[in-house]
Amino acid sequence: MSLNDKVVTDFRRRLREAVENDREAWAASRRLVAPDVVADTLRRLEAAVAGSGLEPALRDELRLLLSQGTSAGLKALPQDALRGLTGLNPTKAIRNVCLLLGVGPAAQAVMVTAMTQETVEAVVRNRDNPFDILLEADGASLVDFGAGDLTFEENVVEQYLAPLEQAGRDLILHALDRLDPREKFGGLVRAERDRLDRLRHHPSPRLQFHFDGNKDMFDLGRRSPGPSRYTVAVCHSPASPTFAYEPTRLGVPAIQSRLRETKGEFRLAREQGLDVLKVLNKGEWFTFPPWKFDVYGPLALLDLLSRKGNVCVLGAVDMEVFWEILSQILPNESARPPGVFFTESNVGHYFGHPYERLSRLAVGERAVLPEVRRDIPRVLGVEGKRGETYGFRFVEIRRGAVFPGVPVGRTALIFDQMTTEAAPWFLTLVPGS
Ligand SMILES: C[S@@+](CC[C@H](N)C(=O)[O-])C[C@H]1O[C@@H](n2cnc3c(N)ncnc32)[C@H](O)[C@@H]1O
Repeated sequence: MSLNDKVVTDFRRRLREAVENDREAWAASRRLVAPDVVADTLRRLEAAVAGSGLEPALRDELRLLLSQGTSAGLKALPQDALRGLTGLNPTKAIRNVCLLLGVGPAAQAVMVTAMTQETVEAVVRNRDNPFDILLEADGASLVDFGAGDLTFEENVVEQYLAPLEQAGRDLILHALDRLDPREKFGGLVRAERDRLDRLRHHPSPRLQFHFDGNKDMFDLGRRSPGPSRYTVAVCHSPASPTFAYEPTRLGVPAIQSRLRETKGEFRLAREQGLDVLKVLNKGEWFTFPPWKFDVYGPLALLDLLSRKGNVCVLGAVDMEVFWEILSQILPNESARPPGVFFTESNVGHYFGHPYERLSRLAVGERAVLPEVRRDIPRVLGVEGKRGETYGFRFVEIRRGAVFPGVPVGRTALIFDQMTTEAAPWFLTLVPGS
């Protein structure tokens, strides 16, 4: 059977559309033709072609061409024949057919470190910078929840990509934020277009960067599952009031009243076809994304981070969010008084000795919590419904926004301009298992 012009023209059009419809996946497909994985890519692509709904003559021709490269790599592919079919050079042709048929990176198990949590703890204890685990663990992967303007991602790439490249290793960097970069909200922290483009089109094939905007961190797993666990899971400057109140301790009605007292009157509304939250402050209505006052609480955040990271880092945590997180990781039940909102004047009473020590830390100083709660309830997924619990084997708390050599996000960098805010907190947590 020979291929007629119409089939080839139609195939080339579909290839072009696949690229136009998903530029990010197209950029990421460079990874599929890196020397260490291309043979595997060709094998998987051949299988995908065989099982595809492509026109039979086209399918057979493609299989024949691909079979010549599967063990010997791209150089062994019949270049002219492949170009005749796709109009592209072999590298682009393979990437493009992969995109069309949904052949993505191989199973990402190698990215997940095989280190035990005991070893992870030992590494973190011995380092001034928890992110240095990326250089020591056998998989260098990081997920950032609520990534904002992606300053942190750029800092991580600057600091870690070169040494990882030199060691012949990849850096996997996934970031997400509930803000949609195409919307007008969140000027300061919205994913910055130029930075996003620089990261997405970074020249190094060793960087696997992926950003999801308009994505709730608690949706993780529904759209792009990513690896089951990353070496490091991060949340820099966790949103307030999202994590400033624990609903299971305070109750939703009391939190709503508290928000009205502290933030002003608010209501959901529709504006120019969009759902928005309107908040009345000093006689003026301000507009926010509709989810701005969704309160998930620290238990949800700790549950997510502990599932997703071998090491969890919370940077530039403001005072209210810090109290609420600390309340959930201190061992004594007295740290979790039902229905009590924490304030400067009552936290010492509820948290006792561990807090006295922490509150004396000067900016730049740190302390390791001598004891950590072992039965933190899971609140997400079926494990939450079954009443499962977990613990952290190591929790280190630092005072301050920035630390020498430690990559941080945008909010940490501007914390010193927030004159009404007390110095924030930086937590490094190693989940028990
Ligand atoms: C205070 S900003 C911090 C941004 C950035 N991490 C930094 O350090 O500058 C909090 C960020 O969390 C995002 N956010 C809030 N709730 C979220 C959710 N449920 N899922 C994902 N992102 C969320 C906000 O859109 C915002 O960008």
